[in-house]
Amino acid sequence: MADKLVSFFQKNLKQWAETHLRPMPWKGEKNPYYIWLSEIILQQTRVEQGLPYFEKFKAKYPTVTDLANAAEDEVMKMWEGLGYYSRARNLHFTAKHISNELNGVFPTDFNSILKLKGIGDYTASAIASFAYDLPYAVLDGNVFRVFSRFLGIKTPIDSTDGKKEFKVITQQFLNKKEPGKYNQAIMDFGATQCVPKNPNCKACPLNKKCVAFEKDLIRELPNKSKKLIKRTRHFNFLVLKKGDTRWIEKREGKDIWKNLYQFPLVETDVALNDFSAFSKFDEWFKIFDQSKPTFIKKSKPFKQTLTHQYIIGVFWEFEISDETFLSLNPSLKGVLNNSLLKFAFPKIIDLYLKDKTLTLNLF
Ligand code: ADE
Repeated sequence: MADKLVSFFQKNLKQWAETHLRPMPWKGEKNPYYIWLSEIILQQTRVEQGLPYFEKFKAKYPTVTDLANAAEDEVMKMWEGLGYYSRARNLHFTAKHISNELNGVFPTDFNSILKLKGIGDYTASAIASFAYDLPYAVLDGNVFRVFSRFLGIKTPIDSTDGKKEFKVITQQFLNKKEPGKYNQAIMDFGATQCVPKNPNCKACPLNKKCVAFEKDLIRELPNKSKKLIKRTRHFNFLVLKKGDTRWIEKREGKDIWKNLYQFPLVETDVALNDFSAFSKFDEWFKIFDQSKPTFIKKSKPFKQTLTHQYIIGVFWEFEISDETFLSLNPSLKGVLNNSLLKFAFPKIIDLYLKDKTLTLNLF
């Protein structure tokens, strides 16, 4: 890459940062644990949404050992609402690893940071540059967008070739004298100036040499090879009531929301109109042939959009008089109504529980 282009980029980005950096509590932070925490919270999450979680985690777990010593259910509850729960599980796993195997000391070189579970190239670069000023350039969706436009690169950013090509470029453009400041600047630049839709290119300090601006390619770049196709899943949650007790279970296995709680679930390919349609499903059999509950009502559909799927959740409420179904469902846990909110649920269940129009009788 031409040196002149690199210095143009670095100089103008630095100048832009002097007046445009967004104030955030983790900026200028040197403690690698706090940097790590903020970066994991901010993955797939908007800054405004992530901020209160960062403050909450820092207050509750001031050191990595405090986080390591917390119960997993508590960490999941703290994370509730942020989504992508594997981030929380990995955060907790790695805190335990650092606390137990590394004497509570965060690793100080890039390769050791990268080896930690849940930390990929992006997060390792952020931690290494922010905490230790090591020369590793961050590459995330924002940075892909900035360079694909600035250099007019059409290689799909979700291809192996694209990832390699952009990795080399970001490292070439990194200001090796101030890697932390540079990384912070390009993150904010991508997030607020070179935005995905309708960027204000007239006000951009890089527009004089931006290929996409010059060739009117802003809308086309960055290029992706795959269009994301989302599948729709219908979740029928069975809310079994007996007095003040409801039954919930922890989600296991490889699916979404692992280790979060839910009401017993019957997943179907289509929406069910009538509760009699449940009879062909095994999950239904395990509960209903045992305890013969009485149907009370069905909720409106609650919707949640994830990266690869749409979830439509309907809550079917039943009154039960005996608990024989528990013999076939040992993982179900009886919980008092007013304790339900102590558990970490997926957002769709939280919405249902907090929907006062529906659930006045639940509380
Ligand atoms: N997004 C992820 N990490 C960030 C950071 N440190 N500053 C601004 N936006 C971010």
